[in-house]
Amino acid sequence: MKKLIIEGGHKLSGNVRIGGAKNSVVALIPATMLTKGKCVIENVPDISDVKILIETMQKLGSIITFEDEVLTIDNRNVENKKISEEYASQLRASYYFMGALLGHYRHAEIASPGGCVIGSRPIDFHLDAFKKMGTKIEIKDGTYIMDAKKLKGIDIFFNFPSCGATINVMLAAVLADGRTRIMNAAREPEIVNVANFLISMGARVYGAGTSTITIEGVRTLGDGHVEVIPDRIEAGTYLILGSLLGDNFTINDIVEDHLQAIIMKLKESGVNLKIDENSITVNRARKLKPVNIKTTVYPGFPTDLGQPMSTFLTQCQGESLFEETIYENRMRHIPHLNNMGADIKAFDNTAIIRGMTPLKGRKVKATDLRAGASMLVAGLIAEGTTTIYNIEHLLRGYERIVTKLNNVGAKISLIDE
Ligand code: EPU
Repeated sequence: MKKLIIEGGHKLSGNVRIGGAKNSVVALIPATMLTKGKCVIENVPDISDVKILIETMQKLGSIITFEDEVLTIDNRNVENKKISEEYASQLRASYYFMGALLGHYRHAEIASPGGCVIGSRPIDFHLDAFKKMGTKIEIKDGTYIMDAKKLKGIDIFFNFPSCGATINVMLAAVLADGRTRIMNAAREPEIVNVANFLISMGARVYGAGTSTITIEGVRTLGDGHVEVIPDRIEAGTYLILGSLLGDNFTINDIVEDHLQAIIMKLKESGVNLKIDENSITVNRARKLKPVNIKTTVYPGFPTDLGQPMSTFLTQCQGESLFEETIYENRMRHIPHLNNMGADIKAFDNTAIIRGMTPLKGRKVKATDLRAGASMLVAGLIAEGTTTIYNIEHLLRGYERIVTKLNNVGAKISLIDE
């Protein structure tokens, strides 16, 4: 068990560099299963989800090197074996092996995917689309067994623009027979990143980043190359931190366009941001105005920033509203924030946050990845020492968090018990 100990109240100055996006790379790695060619993925973040995916791939026979943020993957000797619970249950993104293996081998056996407990998180859109493409799916002892004699292109309309289902159907469709059209597709930047990787391998994907994606199936794919886009959630978390503790704090290697929702909300609250081509400099704001946050799909306010943002809202003078619309269970961090001195009343998926309330160091828990980020922000601004338990969740998504923060003035340490 790992825990994080934070001595709160230190200013953050200097530079921090944003790594590659977790939610891109966790799809890009399984996507390499579509080809026997050599794949190169650059700007790969050093997070535990990447390590688990590398181990999963190696178990199937992939030859992988990971040096200086570059992953090279050679799947020449891969055998399409079952992905066991030991691997699949460790992260949500293991479901991307479904689309990739179905596309390449017309067969996939994968134990149930894991991931943060933030809601029921069904995968019915993925499964319905695979079935419509001609796949027989059996669930035996918690393992999905998928077989497609023929995998055919389809027209599919999602009731909700799901990121996971959009990517998974793209993966299956690039090697399917004929044309697939995904309607009401997710438009997150990670979708575009994955589509560009597939195109580099020779796939024919059009319209990624819009609500309709068209894929013309091809017979085989070759070598692939891609650079992972900067992680907009990591960048957003550092922007929140800079707004509360920054003293000429510069966040480098960002894509401003991907950060508009958080930038606009911080500005509305009174934060002064100096935006350059690939970086943003932020200083602690003297007085913060309350703002209302409603999470939604891209380009709306991202659900993955709702929890860290709720900690920010405790420091605004007045009443803010935080509404979560994507998952049923993203308020589990609230009791911990209240324990530190916040004044938050949560009703189902809405929270009323009254500020500003000074926070005090306490013993708290990271109940999931972004709840961990919320606690991290709280611990860094609190008076005294905060201990965050179950910090493994945070390490799944924030690379070298301790080093990055200590380098800019924070005082935190990771204890492995
Ligand atoms: N949904 C369904 N059926 C499906 C798929 C989704 O009902 O078959 C619902 C979900 O229950 C949820 C909504 O649709 O209410 C959105 O789910 P989506 O499929 O978009 O999410 P996801 O693909 O499971 C990814 C990220 C999440 C991130 C969301 C939204 C990965 C591995 N996970 O999840 O990341 O919150 O998109 O942007 O890419 C995180 O990083 O902390 C995280 C949870």
